[in-house]
Amino acid sequence: MRAYLSRRYRLSASHRLYRQGFSDEQNFAAYGKCANPHGHGHNYVVEVTVGGAVHPATGMVCDLGELDDCVRKEIVDRFDHTNLNLDPAFREVVPTTENFSIAIYDRLSSVFLAAKLIRVRVEETSNNSFEYAGKK
Ligand code: NI
Repeated sequence: MRAYLSRRYRLSASHRLYRQGFSDEQNFAAYGKCANPHGHGHNYVVEVTVGGAVHPATGMVCDLGELDDCVRKEIVDRFDHTNLNLDPAFREVVPTTENFSIAIYDRLSSVFLAAKLIRVRVEETSNNSFEYAGKK
């Protein structure tokens, strides 16, 4: 039996959606005003879902404090109040929130081992959210 735990974290960061190798016209056609040279910021909400058997002694999937420590160290401390375009995770890919979700998932899946990482969901605005659940 698998149970799931989801936890939300908040961080603010800026990005500019702009693909190297595209002309300015191609970038504006693809990304609209998100290609503006000055970039723009978001208050992201990152929801992390982990799953696993409920431990019979503790009644928990995993230690919430352990998850918090890991996400804060690996994700919040790394990305909060930064320009995502300058982070090595986005050297090869455009820092869309789709790619941000993937970067977060890939990082957490390699370092958080207390339960299985099921899904990362990132809210970019109150209207937009993106999810990644690993390679299927
Ligand atoms: Ni944006």
